[in-house]
Amino acid sequence: MTIDMMQYEGRKRDHIKWALDHRSQASLGTGFDRIHLSHDALTEQNLKDIKIPSGTLYVSGMTAGHEAAREINDRLALACVENHWAMGVGSQRRDLVGEEMSSTYENWLRFRDQFPKLELFANIGISQLKNLSEERLEKLLFEMNAQALVIHTNPLQESIQIEGTPDFRGVVDQLRLWVQWSKIPVVLKETGSGFSDQSLAKLSHLKPNQLHAIDVSGRGGTHWGRVEGLRAGEGSVAHNISDTFSQWGESTLDSVFAFNRWKTSSASTTQLWVSGGVRTGLDAAKSLALGAARVGYAKPAMDAALQGEDSLNQWMQQMIQELKIALFCTGCGNVNDLQNREGLWKIVNN
Ligand SMILES: Cc1cc2nc3c(=O)[nH]c(=O)nc-3n(C[C@H](O)[C@H](O)[C@H](O)COP(=O)(O)O)c2cc1C
Repeated sequence: MTIDMMQYEGRKRDHIKWALDHRSQASLGTGFDRIHLSHDALTEQNLKDIKIPSGTLYVSGMTAGHEAAREINDRLALACVENHWAMGVGSQRRDLVGEEMSSTYENWLRFRDQFPKLELFANIGISQLKNLSEERLEKLLFEMNAQALVIHTNPLQESIQIEGTPDFRGVVDQLRLWVQWSKIPVVLKETGSGFSDQSLAKLSHLKPNQLHAIDVSGRGGTHWGRVEGLRAGEGSVAHNISDTFSQWGESTLDSVFAFNRWKTSSASTTQLWVSGGVRTGLDAAKSLALGAARVGYAKPAMDAALQGEDSLNQWMQQMIQELKIALFCTGCGNVNDLQNREGLWKIVNN
């Protein structure tokens, strides 16, 4: 293993450690508390009959490139299959730009043998696109049998991370090229700072049906400025800078509204995926009512996974049950109904 790879593995381990620290959570909320779902005292549903379609909920990308990730990913994958969730993996920069490739490819083959039915999303950073080889990415997507390629963007994190590479020149053009190249759906995703109107406007040159989805991953949950500040250590310049930017980002709710404005104005067929501070099944219900096709959880899934298989299953079942109760109490018989019924939500000032 090269020195760079050792540093990379250490960084991914640090990220798990610090992302799980409560101080890494955004101090400003998602905005979900401003959304009120209309209670239906005369619901005519049977809670027991309500089904959540497979893949409505997903574990948002977290781990891929280090040895300890294997066990965590296996645990997450097993629970996702059992509970009909989809699963994103963390950045695969190591698989795509590292030197020692065969073991990771073999690992994906083994992973797929073990979890053939899992709906799985590959993951790469937008600033890495310029360094990618088509052959390598194609091989990786094939070995993984990935159902989507998630391209994440993280300018705040790259700016504060000590080893960060905050050079984003040309990323929009790169995105356009890889979206055209990809044979599987491409999803553009933030990592906790969300999307504003100005970012979304830059996507208007993509053909309406080219980008499969945008995962807004807004502010309100894990805050990557804070994670990098904690990692750098108290008293360090990076830590001080992360304090300055601790409230930076578009909240998940504002990102959803920006997405809905963009979608209407661009007549796009791109789906809305919501993550970033989603902490309950009720948050998921609100996201779906606002138009989400899927809803993702990162930190809470990692917390539960590290506690063990039973805790992870219990946590997933709680998320599903809370979502079902929200459907039942809004009088909706299924997710489609929640996504499409007019007048189901309103904004309140909490
Ligand atoms: C430990 C950890 C590692 C992460 N690594 C990645 C990654 O490699 N690629 C990515 O797109 N997002 C990554 N994320 C970001 C999440 O997918 C998500 O966008 C963000 O944490 C907000 O969701 P949350 O508030 O539910 O944690 C990571 C999150 C955590 C907690």
